Amino acid sequence: MGECALSNLYSFKEIPAERREYLSLIAEIMDIRKRSDVPLAYVHTYGCQQNVADSEKIKGMLHMAGFDFTETPEDADFILFNTCAIREHAEDRVFGNVGALKNIKRRHPSVTIALCGCMMEQQAVADRIYKSYPFVSLVFGTHSIGKFPQLLYNVLVDGKRIFDRNSDDNTIYEDIPVLRDKTFKGWLPIMYGCDNFCSYCIVPHVRGRERSRDSQAVIDEARSMIEAGYKEITLLGQNVNSYGKGLDEDITFAELLRRIDSIEGDYILRFMTSHPKDCSRELIDTIATSKHISKHLHLPFQSGSSKILKAMNRRYTREQYLNIIRYAKERIPDVSLTSDIIVGFPGETYEDFCETLSLIKEVEFTSLFTFIYSRRPGTPAATMPDVATDAEKGEWFTELLKTQERIAADRCKSMVGSTERVLVEEINEKTGLLSSRTSGNIIVEAPGDPSLIGTFQTAKITEARNWILRGEFI
Ligand code: SAH
Ligand code: SF4
Ligand code: F3S
Repeated sequence: MGECALSNLYSFKEIPAERREYLSLIAEIMDIRKRSDVPLAYVHTYGCQQNVADSEKIKGMLHMAGFDFTETPEDADFILFNTCAIREHAEDRVFGNVGALKNIKRRHPSVTIALCGCMMEQQAVADRIYKSYPFVSLVFGTHSIGKFPQLLYNVLVDGKRIFDRNSDDNTIYEDIPVLRDKTFKGWLPIMYGCDNFCSYCIVPHVRGRERSRDSQAVIDEARSMIEAGYKEITLLGQNVNSYGKGLDEDITFAELLRRIDSIEGDYILRFMTSHPKDCSRELIDTIATSKHISKHLHLPFQSGSSKILKAMNRRYTREQYLNIIRYAKERIPDVSLTSDIIVGFPGETYEDFCETLSLIKEVEFTSLFTFIYSRRPGTPAATMPDVATDAEKGEWFTELLKTQERIAADRCKSMVGSTERVLVEEINEKTGLLSSRTSGNIIVEAPGDPSLIGTFQTAKITEARNWILRGEFI
């Protein structure tokens, strides 16, 4: 995109004339309606990195329409929540925060309020917004991002509410500008949607079928990020290991990684999420022999019980999972392993849960994302009978956290005295220390000048504080 002035603005293809036209029409309208010197947008993102990456596209378009961004919804001319449907708690939070916007709309009637993302792809949610939140003017789903300029323009011009969702549009738009939140680390989507239909999960229902981006588009974007000074690139997809399915080109995820890895530069390459059923030896060999790929594998196993894994429709057993882990440990010395776990899946007993506990003890993960099962209407697990009570599930959850805390603390302790190459990310406002990350994704805090943010440093590890390390830059 020839005219890019910002290092964090990127578009693979020229923005089409129609989209440009809508964006400049929005700019004209907002120039009259704005309450500050420039029109301000407040964009709040819930959920996973996929949503963050979508928000960066929407911000790219808002930027082209002349918007600046604010962290204060009260000051904004346009408010957007990009929502997540993964668990009930996530949805409750969104409803609560949307409710609070009513007062802002009352104080500033010119503000336009919009909701998008995974939650909006569910009929019951859209109906509830329609009936109970009349101050929300625009609702659009995960498939409608390409239409955003047109939708916003229509809302601004005729003031009618627009609900645009559930479209069958599975196009991958390469002609939307991306405005990344950070200038030194960034997300790079390589595929969208999911075909796995794990029985508990809403994602395939709200994000549609799996589709991969053209490899050249991904490689060009990675190259442009590296040239713009990005030090860390994370490739994104719900199941990156099945990258390439459905493309004309015959390419695996491991091959895509190798092609990106061959781009010259000082950067670290990460990816998420890998599904164990598709985690090939080729992928592990590629990590082991690569120059830039982090020595970190995030491989969610969800449950240590093969019986529960079957009910979850995960399509691997405990033994198969452990075989991959053994191979990874053998090929990648000091590999850092992380995972996602669900506690209290319907039908799970304490014995099943104990298999999860024994698995985490055996693997010794660096860190875990742990969730209590949340019933998602419309998924197969939602109608499966439950055996454990909420109180029991809560106790198991606490036991899991305690066990993992000990494992993570031991692992961190064993690193004291070592030196690690880290990427400095931010200042921790509480401690005043700089927070950085190792290749294995472990946080290291150390004193230093904020000008180091966005650079690689070598840290000597001096102390372990549970799962966080303290050190000194040398
Ligand atoms: N595609 C990724 C995960 C996406 S969702 C993968 O397959 O690994 C992130 C995590 O949320 C999942 O790994 C799972 O642990 C959790 N999760 C998904 N649905 C859930 C539900 N209904 N209740 C509780 N946790 C859930
Ligand atoms: Fe959900 Fe399973 Fe797809 Fe992950 S792989 S997004 S858990 S259905
Ligand atoms: Fe949530 Fe959608 Fe991601 S449901 S976890 S934001 S794909």
